[in-house]
Amino acid sequence: MIPQTFIQDLLNRVDIVDVVGRYVQLKKGGANYMGLCPFHNEKSPSFTVSPTKQFYHCFGCGAHGTAIGFLIEYSGLNFVEAVKDLAQGVGMVVPDDDRLPPAQRAEVQAKSLALSEVMSRAGEFYKQELRTAPQAIAYLKKRGLTGEIAARFGIGYAPSGWDGLRKVFDRYDASELVEAGLLIDRSDEEGGSGKRYDRFRDRIMFPIRNIKGQTIGFGGRVLETGEPKYLNSPETPLFQKGQELYGLFEARQVIREAGYVLVTEGYMDVVALAQLGFPQAVATLGTACTPTHVQKLLRQTDHVIFSFDGDAAGRRAARRALEACLPHAGDDKTLKFLFLPPEHDPDSYVREFGAQAFEQQVRDAMPLSQFLLREVTQDNDLATSEGRARTQFDAKPLLQAMPPSALRLQIVRSLAQVTQTTASEIEALFELSQPVARVRVAPPKAKRTAPMGLERQMIRLLVTYPQLAAMLDHEALSAAEQLAPDNAEMLKQLVQACVALGENANFAALAEQLRTQNADFDPLIAEIAAESDADPEAARLELAGAVRQTKMQVVKAEMDRLAAGGLATDEMRQRYRELMQRQEQLRRQAEVETLPK
Ligand code: CTP
Ligand code: MN
Repeated sequence: MIPQTFIQDLLNRVDIVDVVGRYVQLKKGGANYMGLCPFHNEKSPSFTVSPTKQFYHCFGCGAHGTAIGFLIEYSGLNFVEAVKDLAQGVGMVVPDDDRLPPAQRAEVQAKSLALSEVMSRAGEFYKQELRTAPQAIAYLKKRGLTGEIAARFGIGYAPSGWDGLRKVFDRYDASELVEAGLLIDRSDEEGGSGKRYDRFRDRIMFPIRNIKGQTIGFGGRVLETGEPKYLNSPETPLFQKGQELYGLFEARQVIREAGYVLVTEGYMDVVALAQLGFPQAVATLGTACTPTHVQKLLRQTDHVIFSFDGDAAGRRAARRALEACLPHAGDDKTLKFLFLPPEHDPDSYVREFGAQAFEQQVRDAMPLSQFLLREVTQDNDLATSEGRARTQFDAKPLLQAMPPSALRLQIVRSLAQVTQTTASEIEALFELSQPVARVRVAPPKAKRTAPMGLERQMIRLLVTYPQLAAMLDHEALSAAEQLAPDNAEMLKQLVQACVALGENANFAALAEQLRTQNADFDPLIAEIAAESDADPEAARLELAGAVRQTKMQVVKAEMDRLAAGGLATDEMRQRYRELMQRQEQLRRQAEVETLPK
């Protein structure tokens, strides 16, 4: 867990206008900045960024959030990655969860910085080399690639010498070069003293970029034929194959536009598809599809189509992808599987049959539910009890891996049908968590009434100007509690959050904190994000007024009760006098508050 205080400091240091401005062209318009919303298609700008609130808001689609939220939405980073990215930009070191002492942490960070520097310089070198390598250019041309596509993917060429990278790095013996996987070091091996050489020689180089666009690895293909066909960077602190997808950085915009992502198995598939009109393609890196892959993809889009060869290897890969998908399958996700004829990959298929035929394949892709059922039924004889039992046996781990959802229930129903059982029996037999078939649809929770009146006013003002929280003293909170117990709880939470933020309190910091604490605040945050900034001094006065009136109302109510009781005892009369005094104090306060400062 990254401490909240760090998040607050971070949000105070970064400027959301810079962060958003890196990706969206912003123009100053009044107090805010405006641009075309990156989260929906639009022709005239309804996307605003407020420097005072440190918040963005789109009037067109309602998207809103802080700089952290923006990076998560826009780049598909997760929370920790987004925080790290922002921190790096302003020179802060994230105190991360691996609990390393700060010195060591700084070392790790310096190391990974050095590695990415080395990788990007190598990538530039390979790109330069391609220009003067006619045989490599000829090969790419033969594969149907234009210079434009090669440039988009940063494709390069590693020259054939043993130490080409000497030209790039002053110190060929720098440890980073080996650690980054660019050099192979044989000095540890017998008879190999001091032997270092370039890992990639005479190969077409595909840089592998992370979602931020940094080069973290390479895939190198031989020209024509030779073994191994592909040579890849080894796993390094920067590069883990099971987590990265080739082409995701290049495709992330188009994926949003196309509304789906196409997952293939090869580098060449990605670049060839981009060339032939399917730029929304990515590839796993010669490894099976992992749940991390699926999660990364689902951050970009809720529609994922996997493409596999029709042969046995493709079938196995598809099965692995299915398993990786199950934990993430849900009613709002579309996961599909496309099987090409044997001996074809997407690249060869499009070249042989054309883009339209491939488009049709994409449209005809098999939904996850159907693929799952086919997987469990195809090897079993459904005409026998044993075959039906075996089908259920095979289906059990798959269904157990799915979260409860309407989709799971649909699959259970179909499975029940083909195995001559009922949905409830299957759910019981499989010990499915929260069996969907028996969950009765709960009536929608009574909608919490939106805070009204004074508490509403106080909550709004505080969310907008958290630094004013000190104005809500104990008396004010307990008064609010008596007047509106429901909203008072929200108010109390809010004051606590504001106080915890201390002097760092600003709208963005507070919004980020509340987002994780209580969803009830979300509509309010969205609403406030959409408002133009008011004058903080006016807000201070308004809040003071609301606080005072709340206190007044409670005093008045108690006085009324005492009066209704006839002020029968000395005690009651004493209390009444106290309340009258308090009322007078509050009145005088009001006069002070309204005096111009
Ligand atoms: N792969 C690898 N090492 C190999 C062979 C393959 O890492 N020796 C990985 C690469 O990521 C490759 C993917 O598996 O892109 C798919 O392999 P393949 O279908 O053989 O390659 P293609 O990408 O189709 O390349 P080409 O069309 O040039 O044969
Ligand atoms: Mn291929």
